This record gives sequence, structure tokens and C-alpha cells, in this order.
Amino acid sequence: MKKINNKSFLTLLIVVSILSAIVFSCAKDKVPTTVLDTSSCKPNVSYLNDIKPIISNHCVSCHSSKNSSGGYDFTNYDGLTKNVSKVLGSMKQDGTAQSMPQGYKVADSLIQKLNCWINQGSKNN
Ligand code: HEC
Repeated sequence: MKKINNKSFLTLLIVVSILSAIVFSCAKDKVPTTVLDTSSCKPNVSYLNDIKPIISNHCVSCHSSKNSSGGYDFTNYDGLTKNVSKVLGSMKQDGTAQSMPQGYKVADSLIQKLNCWINQGSKNN
């Protein structure tokens, strides 16, 4: 049996390292933190029943008329819809706006609801 010499072992090690680096970086790209696929949206996502509760639970402590952090009051339909793309970006934490809420990320299913509602025209329904 032929013995593997030091040089070919080193070459093999380098090749394996490069290949695994490529595989890992691609795998990372393919797993987005938030999957936003509007084809799975339920019809007529409701502002009152679906969206308002999410905002009340996660945002209104800092974004109301009393405490409008950054100048934003999201307690009402107009305040929310005026800034809705920023709101989505902040919740997706995709870097397009400051990540919100501060210190954690809401469940992907809730972000998906907001995405569906926006996609259906951000209706006051
Ligand atoms: C603990 C308090 C707090 C909570 C909870 C919070 N925010 Fe904020 N938010 C802030 C503060 C403070 C700012 C202003 C930061 C600044 O101007 O530097 C801000 C700014 C923003 C901005 C503007 C970001 C930008 O890049 O211009 C958006 C949009 C926003 N918040 C959305 C939300 C949404 C949506 C939620 C709920 C999912 C939320 N926030 C929850 C404190 C909070």
C-alpha cells in the first residue's frame, strides 16, 4: 500500500477545508430567517383581528400617542399604514430599518401575517 506523504496530505486538507467552507456558506444563504411567501396567505387578513393585536402586543408600549418613540404612533390604522414598509422591515430585521421590537424578534408567523395583509392592500378591515 502506498503511504500518503506529508505534501499530499496537506493538499487534501486544504481542498477539504475549501469545499466545506463553500458548502457551509451556501447552506447559510438558503435558510433565510424569515420566509415570506405570499402564496400561502389566508384570504382577507384583517387589520382589526390579525394585525392590530400583533402591534398592541409588541409595539404599542413604545409607539403610542403617549410614548411615540422615534415619532411613531402605531396605535391607529393611519399611523401604521403611513410607515408600513418600514414596520415590516423592522420586524423582519432585514437591515432596511432598525430592528424591532428592541431586543427580540416576533414569531415568523406573525411577520408573515403582516406581510400578507400588506400584500392584500393594507385594508382597514
Ligand atoms: C422598547 C421600546 C420599543 C418597542 C417595544 C418597539 N419599538 Fe420601535 N422604536 C423604538 C425607539 C426608541 C425608536 C427610535 C429609535 C431612534 O430613532 O433611534 C423606534 C423606531 C422604530 C421605527 C423606525 C425605524 C427606522 O429605522 O427608522 C420603526 C419602523 C419601529 N420602531 C417599529 C416598531 C415595531 C413595528 C414594533 C413592534 C413590532 C416596535 N417598533 C417596538 C422603541 C421601541
